[in-house]
Amino acid sequence: MAKIRIGILTGGGDCPGLNPAIRGAVLHASAHGAECIGVRGGWRGMMEADTLPLRVGDVADIVVKGGTILGTSRTNPFKHENGPAHVMATIKKLKLDALIAMGGEDTLGVASKLFSEHQAPVIGVPKTMDNDLSATEYTFGFDSAVTVAVDAAERLRDTGRSHSRIMVLEVMGRHAGWVALFTGIAAAADYVCLPERPVDVKDMAAKLKAACKRNGTALVVASEAITLPGVQHHKEIDDFGHEILKERGVAERLSEAIHKETGVETRAAVIGHIQRGGPPTVFDRILGTRVGMKASELALSGQFGYMVALKADKIVPVSLKEATADLKTVNLEWLDLLDTITSGLAGETNRRVKGARTAA
Ligand code: F6P
Repeated sequence: MAKIRIGILTGGGDCPGLNPAIRGAVLHASAHGAECIGVRGGWRGMMEADTLPLRVGDVADIVVKGGTILGTSRTNPFKHENGPAHVMATIKKLKLDALIAMGGEDTLGVASKLFSEHQAPVIGVPKTMDNDLSATEYTFGFDSAVTVAVDAAERLRDTGRSHSRIMVLEVMGRHAGWVALFTGIAAAADYVCLPERPVDVKDMAAKLKAACKRNGTALVVASEAITLPGVQHHKEIDDFGHEILKERGVAERLSEAIHKETGVETRAAVIGHIQRGGPPTVFDRILGTRVGMKASELALSGQFGYMVALKADKIVPVSLKEATADLKTVNLEWLDLLDTITSGLAGETNRRVKGARTAA
């Protein structure tokens, strides 16, 4: 009997944890007598039948490696003439019984459409350092990115303290502020600017002045996508209609505003793609392995149209439609927690939390 054949692709921005997930899927498939075929460069590779072998020997030790051995792209087949038909033709040509697509909202959105409109035998694996997929509690890549960002923030604090400066760290997070939020909390930032709400410059300045009085320095963590007067929105957009955030200058503009309001010398740093590279943390290695293995399990049992999700420490299937319906942004509960921390540090009362308690 012919072996079951599973195609695997990685799409969208890379992140640590993709290689562990690829390895998990290949090892599970191999242990159950199936074989895997790697697809190069995300959905582009599926349109062009661009493949590479994925045997056990090809993935044996990649659990420790950042990036993706398959390569990636932000190609959307639905934006290319006959794109979906090319993808379906490749499935036929390669004799794929299943296709595992590892990616964020865009890659999984394509998988969802291919399933509902073309009955493609797809299974999704959630990946994004932004951690903004609502159907899963965590995505791999996030923990590794935050770990790098926290390290950067601590280094900035050291030099900020030596010079009695305020330091601003800009991190990624196009639609959601999870990386900035977790970095800010874990690195003891005095203020965190998120895309979920406009920056309150006066409130920020008051908190930073209090921090400077107490410590001689202050640390701000800001997401790349914050709303700030004077920050230009870049005009270029990708295949998925998303703004490409290049040269927007959030950190520089923010530090100018801080200097103006506080009178304290301020410096900015942007870690950019550094937070997407490097070896995955142990958490991301384990999560990647688990979701990759579960995706292979669904492939072998013919359960298509699902994304594998982390829920209450179990890896469970969630329909791709549900998984791609909404983005997970920083909610009020987290904003209250953050405000309580930064107000507490500044010796202020968090009025919003106090109000919420009175109302309850
Ligand atoms: O979507 C993930 C993400 O890391 C965003 O946070 C960031 O804005 C974007 O990718 C950067 O994309 P690129 O690698 O294409 O510059």
